[in-house]
Amino acid sequence: MGSQWGKDKAYLKAKQSGYRSRAAMKLKEIIQKNPVIRPDDNILDLGAAPGSWLQVLREMTDGIIVGVDLNPILPIEGVRTITGDFSDPKVIAQIRELIPEVNGIVCDASPKLSGQRSFDQARAIELNEMALGVARQLLKQGGNMIMKSFQGEDFSWLYNRVKQEFYSVRTYKAHTTRKGSTEMYIIAKNFIGNQQGLEESGSDGSA
Ligand SMILES: C[S@@+](CC[C@H](N)C(=O)[O-])C[C@H]1O[C@@H](n2cnc3c(N)ncnc32)[C@H](O)[C@@H]1O
Repeated sequence: MGSQWGKDKAYLKAKQSGYRSRAAMKLKEIIQKNPVIRPDDNILDLGAAPGSWLQVLREMTDGIIVGVDLNPILPIEGVRTITGDFSDPKVIAQIRELIPEVNGIVCDASPKLSGQRSFDQARAIELNEMALGVARQLLKQGGNMIMKSFQGEDFSWLYNRVKQEFYSVRTYKAHTTRKGSTEMYIIAKNFIGNQQGLEESGSDGSA
């Protein structure tokens, strides 16, 4: 299965459970510590290949699950997938057709790593911004988001950006993350959503 499968505990557990990658154990841990997926949630997974998060999500909700990736994802029962860039308006339109109401977004997307830490971090933050853009277009008010990022100079900027969009935001470092990795998950709850309705009705929220 390639070098992504370091032969550690998470790898063995994932393999024994039939998951496609050790990342499955990460999502399980993240959700166990931060229960943001509700049993009927419709979930959109951005950067979903090879599909182990999709497998875990299928166990956690009876809602619709859609995964998007640049690379094709082998079929998973009860999961829809789209091959494409999640920031592409055509892909957004396809997602809309598959999930009329998105209650949760998970994003484990990573750029192809160059090994140059600050360059890779900047590209990862760019992907995070793109994922936030998707949330702005598709996530239902009150929805939740889990997003992978990398610690570095732009991380606090990103964190503050997410805080503008959600009522509750925290970070979570998964124990399952490989040693030395700067990977960090942002757990964002209760999407503020489009406040246009309030503005239009003349209320600015102040009493
Ligand atoms: C670490 S992998 C995701 C692993 C996945 N969570 C799992 O459990 O199988 C990161 C993925 O992000 C995808 N990706 C990066 N940029 C993307 C983009 N703009 N649109 C869609 N997918 C993207 C890559 O193709 C790659 O498959």
